Amino acid sequence: MTNASKIDGSPKTDSKFEDIISNLPQDNSWKSTGPLYKYQGFWYIPWVLRKVISAQESFTPQPTDVFLCSSPKSGTTWLKALAFSIVSRNQVNDSTNPLLENLPHEIVPFLEIESTQNSSNRNLEIPLVATHIPYTSLPKSIIDSGCKIIYICRDPKDVLISHWNFGLKVSGIGLESFSLEEALEQYCKGIYPYGPYWDHVLGFWKASLEFPEKVLFVKYEDLKTDGPFHVKRMANFLGHPFSVEEEQQGVAENIVKKCSFETLSRLEVNKNGKFYLPELPNIENKYFFRKGKAGDWKNYLTNEKAEKLDQIMEEKFSGSGLV
Ligand code: A3P
Repeated sequence: MTNASKIDGSPKTDSKFEDIISNLPQDNSWKSTGPLYKYQGFWYIPWVLRKVISAQESFTPQPTDVFLCSSPKSGTTWLKALAFSIVSRNQVNDSTNPLLENLPHEIVPFLEIESTQNSSNRNLEIPLVATHIPYTSLPKSIIDSGCKIIYICRDPKDVLISHWNFGLKVSGIGLESFSLEEALEQYCKGIYPYGPYWDHVLGFWKASLEFPEKVLFVKYEDLKTDGPFHVKRMANFLGHPFSVEEEQQGVAENIVKKCSFETLSRLEVNKNGKFYLPELPNIENKYFFRKGKAGDWKNYLTNEKAEKLDQIMEEKFSGSGLV
C-alpha cells in the first residue's frame, strides 16, 4: 500500500454512528435489513450507511483513480469489465486477462461496500474504484480531486426487475420481503437502497453537463446497441484513446466481445464462483449475470405499471435534458 491512496476502513464508533442515525428519517417497511435511513437525500441499509460515512471521512483517492459510479443493478459489473479492459489492454493478453478468472467485482472493488473494511483490499496498480454513492454524497476528496468519473444508468424498469430478482436470491438486501408489486411501490416512492433512482441519476447527469471533462454519462441501452462506439468514447475520456493501429485491429470491438454478457456469464468463475462479502454471505457470482437484456421488464410489468414508473421519471427528469 502506498501513501498515495488510502481506503480507510476505520469504522465510526458505535455511539457516534448511533447519534447520526438517531436524527435521520427512517422507513420501517424493510424487514430483513432493519430500517432504511435517509442520509443526505438518499436511503441506505444501516451497515452500508456506516461505510458510506466512513468513506466520506477517510477516503483519499490516488490522483490517477477513475470512479465507476452507478445505482445498483444498472450495469456496474459490465462497466467494471469494460473500463478494466480499456485501461489494462496493454498489460494483459488473452491468456493472462484477470477477467477470465475473476468476477469483475474482485478486480474493481467497491469503495463503500468491501474496500473500506480492509485497506489492503485494493490493488493500486488498477486505478479503478466503483461506488453506488450518489454524486452529492461522494467523499469530498473525490469531488475536489481531478479524478474522472464514469456513470452508467439504465432504464429504471429494468433496474427494478433486476434488483427484485437479485433480492430473491440474496437475502440481506431487503427486497426479498417484497412482492414485485410492493417493490414497484417502493421504487415509485424512491425508498430503497441508494434510492431515489431519479435523484441518483440526475446528480451525475448534471455533473456530466457541468464538468464534461470529469464526468462521463453512459447508458446501458446505448452500450447494448453500439458497444464499440461507447467503448471508444470511454477510452478517449479516460485518456487511453485507441491508436490507428488498434482501430484497424478492431481492439474496441474485441473488448466489447470479451466483456459481453454471453462471454462473461459462460466463464467458469462466473458460473460457479462465490463473491465474499461478510454482510451478504450467500452471494454467488452467477447472480450478477441474470439475463443482461434491455427491456426484460416487459416480462414482469403490465403496461399500466410500467407507465406509472415512466411517468414519475419523466416528471423528475423534466427540464434536465435527460430522456
Ligand atoms: P439483469 O438482472 O437484467 O439481467 P449490476 O452489475 O449493476 O449489479 O447490474 C446487474 C445487471 O447487469 C443484471 O441485469 C446483469 O445480468 C447485467 N449484466 C451483467 N453483466 C453484463 C454484461 N456483460 N452485459 C450486459 N449486462 C450485464
